[in-house]
Amino acid sequence: MALFNRGSKITLENAKIPVHVGVIMDGNGRWAKKRGLPRKVGHRQGAQNFRAITRHAKEVGVKYITFYAFSTENWKRPKDEVDALMNLFEKYLDELDDFLKEHVRIRFIGDRSKLSESLQQKMLDSERKSKDYDIMTLLLAINYGGRDEICHSCKTLAQQVKEGKLEPEDITMDMIEQNLYTGDVPPVDLVIRPSGEQRLSNFMIWQCAYAEFYYSDILWPDFNNDEFDKAILAYSERNRRFGGV
Ligand code: FPP
Repeated sequence: MALFNRGSKITLENAKIPVHVGVIMDGNGRWAKKRGLPRKVGHRQGAQNFRAITRHAKEVGVKYITFYAFSTENWKRPKDEVDALMNLFEKYLDELDDFLKEHVRIRFIGDRSKLSESLQQKMLDSERKSKDYDIMTLLLAINYGGRDEICHSCKTLAQQVKEGKLEPEDITMDMIEQNLYTGDVPPVDLVIRPSGEQRLSNFMIWQCAYAEFYYSDILWPDFNNDEFDKAILAYSERNRRFGGV
């Protein structure tokens, strides 16, 4: 995969690789509909692709990758679709030992309290089993919402104020950030959203403050390694100024 810029050839070998990539896995339903299949088949295909892209991102040299797997708003979907997604998460965690061979650290972000006991237990186990791996960290956003996350952080700080451990005027942006689910994870550099939609949909709204966006018309189940490389190369071409000149 190569791009050309001002006569010089940019390839993955000399590209600027984003440290943290966020992926909004959109278009599973449309992928299934186009084939006359139930939506849950699209999610199953999307889950396969999630595994392939995770492996590929590690090979490319990405250090953190976050996938938006289930939002705080997705509970509004029909029960059989929600159940199918929950089953996919459990299945993935059941097959985790296979995945741990990749030496990828796994973390979850979002409000776990509404998930089943067995899923919560599997999430904890996988975080514990993979905690010492540092080649790449995979974050899965499940029952996640950016506004909900900021609210959760504020509540933690408010509790400290209530207990007399913190003065309101001493609250800093760093404190709010440290109390997000992501805590010590660096901000998102690049957000990839396939399927033609061009919005953030409450995904890591704090962490994406200076993220670059890459949109594609390809539906998530078809968003293969080459498409991922195109996003990395597009990012590599961007001039990030973080509010400066
Ligand atoms: C949005 O596409 C996608 C989701 C709400 C679910 C994403 C989840 C997966 C791909 C499963 C991931 C699995 C693991 C194991 C992490 P959509 O259904 O809204 O698509 P549409 O816009 O075409 O209807």
